[in-house]
Amino acid sequence: MTMAESGPRPPDACDAVVVFGITGDLAYKKIFPALHNLARRGRLDMPIVGVARGDRTEDWLRDHIRSSITEQADTPDPHAVDELEKQLVFVAGDYNDPKTFHRLTEVLQQRKCPLFYLAIPPSMFEVVVGHLTAVGLAARGRVVVEKPFGRDLTTMRELDGALHAAFGEEDVFRIDHYLGKESVQNLLYFRFANSFLEPLWNRDHVSSVQITMAEAFGVEGRGALYEELGAVRDVVQNHLLQVVSLLSMEPPVSMAPAPLRDERVKVLNAIRQPRREDLVRGQYLGYTDEPGVATSSTTETYAALRLHIDSWRWSGVPFLIRAGKHLPVTATEVLATFHRPPQRLFDETLPHDSNHLRFRLGPDRVSIALGVRSKSPGDEQTGRNVELYMCDDEVGTMTAYERLIDDAMDGDPTLFARADAVAASWQIVDSVLDGRSDEVPEPYRPGTWGPSAGDALAADVGGWHEPGPQ
Ligand code: BG6
Repeated sequence: MTMAESGPRPPDACDAVVVFGITGDLAYKKIFPALHNLARRGRLDMPIVGVARGDRTEDWLRDHIRSSITEQADTPDPHAVDELEKQLVFVAGDYNDPKTFHRLTEVLQQRKCPLFYLAIPPSMFEVVVGHLTAVGLAARGRVVVEKPFGRDLTTMRELDGALHAAFGEEDVFRIDHYLGKESVQNLLYFRFANSFLEPLWNRDHVSSVQITMAEAFGVEGRGALYEELGAVRDVVQNHLLQVVSLLSMEPPVSMAPAPLRDERVKVLNAIRQPRREDLVRGQYLGYTDEPGVATSSTTETYAALRLHIDSWRWSGVPFLIRAGKHLPVTATEVLATFHRPPQRLFDETLPHDSNHLRFRLGPDRVSIALGVRSKSPGDEQTGRNVELYMCDDEVGTMTAYERLIDDAMDGDPTLFARADAVAASWQIVDSVLDGRSDEVPEPYRPGTWGPSAGDALAADVGGWHEPGPQ
């Protein structure tokens, strides 16, 4: 979709990647495998500079990168790993120490535009950006930061202030890896590359839209980090609201970054402030025994949220979102249900969701299915639900991080969250999270679909759809 995937890099592309927090979890799980894939495709002919505190050595880092790629990359390529190693430069030092940044300046002396990836806690952003500015590196670089950007609108604005003190908005790349997913890009493509859908894609024909992001596992050793977040800040404020915006936005005047991002923000701004009762928070039994989690924790590991978009297109159509850890399956799925036919011609009651459009966004499998009614063979005028179904598997496509790092290097902002979109998303969730940090979430058993109050939220649209195997 973006220019980075084909052809040469633009003249002002980045010519070095600097990863702050190179010894951390994010680098291990996401950044090295992405850099490895870029090296394999011949798109990483530049120094990779790792910065980290502590007493790690360059040899340790090399082993660390090798094991990350062996564990995390789909198809590790020894040649690409060698290339990555050759390009690697390690700068060990404290982020509070100006010497660390002087050393970085020496390493980057010949480089015109470094990409600074801040894979560090947000509390360190200001310090690091301050030093980058002091040594003159910020002025010629770009910066990448991860979601969630802040914990609420206020902290988001503070972080933004820290970044904007040194970087213009066009040089700030806020990663929400959902936007880099092939399947999520296809939402937009499918909507606007098919003429049959647009006349139906509105309140006259669509009765409700649901998005389920289910994970069959828990917090997987990230207890301490998750305690700071909870399901709403971890995935609803960012990934799932991005999906809502792609499903509900108006057609942009072109696919250029600005019109596309304008439309995404417009629809987020049209979401009515949800009421307190529109959010159900749950916590799986056993969460408080996880390492790093407080025994009295009130962090939610499940969230279900009901939204309304106050626009001509969507007025009156509920958008229901739920996300949870330790649910029965791992699957992210969108289901848009169409109204039932207005006249009852056949001797049967049609299920409420027999006409639907279903997007399976992953993992592994990406599919689109159109749910229709078809006559069952025989004398009776009755039918059954069937799906017209297409499926791609994700193997061989670019991973989200690979695509996004590639785009950031090229300065292409299309798939990144703009400040106004992040602010709009915080505004939506702030209103329902406010004052609830001490509220005990509803307990649910691992392997179930969350608390019953979550089910009640979707009762008037026929209940939640449960993603199946494909
Ligand atoms: C991350 C969240 O952003 O997305 C995790 O922090 C979640 O909690 C993950 O598991 C899911 O991403 P994906 O790509 O596996 O669907």
